[in-house]
Amino acid sequence: MSPLREMVVAEIAAHGPLTFAKFMALALYHPALGYYSRGAGIGRDFHTSPELHPLFGALLARQVIDCWEKLDRPATFTVVELGGGTGSLAASLITELRHLSPAAATALRYRIVETSAALRARQRVRLAGLGVHWGGLPRVVEGVVLANEFFDALPVHLVTVRDGHLRERYVTVEADALRLVDGPPSTPLLAAYFRRVGVTLPEGYQTEVNLAATRAIRRIGRSLRRGWVITIDYGYPAAQRYHPERAAGTLTCYHGGTFNYDPLAWVGEQDLTAHVDFTALSRWGADVGLQPVGLVLQREFLRNLGLDAYLHALGARPLDLATWEWNREAITQLAAPGGLGRFLVLGQVKGGVPFALEGFTGEARGRLLRERDRLRVPLLGGGYSEPGANE
Ligand SMILES: C[S@@+](CC[C@H](N)C(=O)[O-])C[C@H]1O[C@@H](n2cnc3c(N)ncnc32)[C@H](O)[C@@H]1O
Repeated sequence: MSPLREMVVAEIAAHGPLTFAKFMALALYHPALGYYSRGAGIGRDFHTSPELHPLFGALLARQVIDCWEKLDRPATFTVVELGGGTGSLAASLITELRHLSPAAATALRYRIVETSAALRARQRVRLAGLGVHWGGLPRVVEGVVLANEFFDALPVHLVTVRDGHLRERYVTVEADALRLVDGPPSTPLLAAYFRRVGVTLPEGYQTEVNLAATRAIRRIGRSLRRGWVITIDYGYPAAQRYHPERAAGTLTCYHGGTFNYDPLAWVGEQDLTAHVDFTALSRWGADVGLQPVGLVLQREFLRNLGLDAYLHALGARPLDLATWEWNREAITQLAAPGGLGRFLVLGQVKGGVPFALEGFTGEARGRLLRERDRLRVPLLGGGYSEPGANE
């Protein structure tokens, strides 16, 4: 029995069944034994876009520079990254931003908000010399808040519908095993959530409600004075997220490089994640002045920022076959229609700044294709394919 499972069993014996959100918070974020707090599995059990290929961060650097320019190139400009993971996004984004725009790099204040002490330590080593700061969400942000696979990692409540009534699913112990049981909702916010996103769940439906995401987006919106929130994650607008075809919910567990649907197994040793409801981010964000500026597929977002131009550039360089294939395959996966390319990117804006960002409009796409011979392509393993290498 894992030590965290023992702790969960003791907690249930002392205080009764736990909401699934409370269980998930312990499983992922118990300060010593939670999956993210230990930090061991991330980058091993699953791979996020920035870990797959540094071009993801490099393209986001282009988006960040666009934001800085649209704020009229302020002398200081903050990027807040929520949930820094292994530090791969910050590493590739800052490196490329320094290369593309030394002036934006001088203005940049890059802050990571990371709950896991182990991951913060790992990030500090990986990002040494890149000028990154760590801390909570600043009281006032002028710039960009980035959330890549952040909201899907927040603890969710599990709910179901029985005899026409919304019920909540709790974690309890029966015959020494962890089990899910139904009970009355622990909070009226669960029913209110479905009213607000305009969804009525059919009988027997089981799904997740991410109340932590509604709280987080409101906190972010209150902090943001001028700028944008860019959220990249798997999920859907509410009508699709809670569509009858997803009647068993979206909760997925990652352990040892494979996925499963048993969230009560390997307590603290597997990742638990649920699809994001983008309608909720948009509605609760609107409460604090965040206006949606676009919702596009990651595939479109990255292509708008020049992914095709970089692929062309890569194809034209005299790399050895293995390097070429390895990089081409990873970059293609970032935009794969059946994989990461299906993720959604939500832009939200506040403070009277321009709506149109290059990632959503595609205004830079043609120019970057024309300039492809001059692009420096980041490669797996840390190197670059420099322009002119084939001349
Ligand atoms: C799925 S990982 C994504 C990591 C990274 N953004 C990436 O794309 O590789 C989720 C990250 O969010 C962090 N996290 C979760 N809840 C958090 C919170 N409330 N505040 C700050 N970080 C949090 C986790 O520790 C982890 O680093």
